[in-house]
Amino acid sequence: MSGTGIGELLLLGKGSDLLSERGVSCTGELPPSSAPDLVERAEKARKDLGERAMVLGHHYQRDEVIQFADITGDSFKLAQAAADRRDAEFIIFCGVHFMAESADILTSPGQKVILPDLAAGCSMADMAAANQVDEAWRCLEKLGQSKGTIPITYMNSSAAIKAFTGANGGAICTSSNAERAMRWAFEQGEKVFFLPDQHLGRNTAVLKLGLKLEDCVLWNPWKPQGGLTDSEIKRAKVILWRGHCSVHGRFSLGNVEEVRAKVPGVKVLVHPECKHDVVKSADVVGSTEMIIKTVADSPAGSIWAVGTELNLVKRLAASNPDKKVLFLDKTICYCSTMNRIDLPHLVWAMESLVGGKAVNQIKVADGIARDAKVALQRMLALP
Ligand code: 13P
Ligand code: SF4
Repeated sequence: MSGTGIGELLLLGKGSDLLSERGVSCTGELPPSSAPDLVERAEKARKDLGERAMVLGHHYQRDEVIQFADITGDSFKLAQAAADRRDAEFIIFCGVHFMAESADILTSPGQKVILPDLAAGCSMADMAAANQVDEAWRCLEKLGQSKGTIPITYMNSSAAIKAFTGANGGAICTSSNAERAMRWAFEQGEKVFFLPDQHLGRNTAVLKLGLKLEDCVLWNPWKPQGGLTDSEIKRAKVILWRGHCSVHGRFSLGNVEEVRAKVPGVKVLVHPECKHDVVKSADVVGSTEMIIKTVADSPAGSIWAVGTELNLVKRLAASNPDKKVLFLDKTICYCSTMNRIDLPHLVWAMESLVGGKAVNQIKVADGIARDAKVALQRMLALP
């Protein structure tokens, strides 16, 4: 990461790429990133795979990768795309591990999901371990609270946590349907156990459903009984897991105030994984897909300060030359795990498939996949 001033973003859009780190899950087989023919090789491998493969690209992927995506989208759109395309033998998922797991759960047994670099994880998903979640649920059971409590689990979680959710009457949500999922949960029970993103949970409960901040309590998995008293747990309407996104957690209220002071007419547009005070003060809040649509649909001359991952913000700036798109933070901030998927890994994965070898296949164990699918399908069925 390195410092850059607000308003310098358009310069970033003109070709500088500060991250050169690469995954090492296939050392020795990867083409070097300096290979001059990488684009041609990717084009050839993609053509050779034809209809046998579908390439999905999350909006945070690098330009060099996103150019080969058949479908780009937010987590929800990509999960839907994976569930819908029954005829593709291979789903090459340019995104992170939890997204590829969800695709594997939603596809049929004959389809293979490939993650070009296995090191593409998500720090937020790692903040909720299955044993910690089981332990928390046992605490709720002991207090007689589990019966009326509905787990709502953000897509950014391991398959095991999704399975816990499905097995206990809950549903998955993404940033584009968290409000619907939480409203659905309150129709099923009187308390929501929201994990693992405390910010999305709090922002949804307070800013969308109109609950009070005091209705939400924070479950710290590193403390006995989450660091909460019996009465705090009993009184709470929403129990938030203490997880967050390290990328979105960087944006602050100070960033919002600074850009408003410096740039007259600017509108602030952020992802709901940002902290509560940031989201509360923003002009528009939404998923990556919604962020793209909001800027695209705004009139020429609009000025946006965007609080989300930088690959996406750079692309927004480049694809909306009639508007001004600024990065909300003063420092450059990519999602380092999303960035693990680069062109050498994509070429390697596709050429291996052409050669008859499925590398880096993501396969969720049957027992986990069964319950996780219940939770994912509850999300897909939300009105
Ligand atoms: P979206 O579903 O909005 O694309 O978000 C995914 C994600 O990981 C954001 O950090
Ligand atoms: Fe995970 Fe945050 Fe990266 Fe999204 S941006 S994949 S939540 S670390």
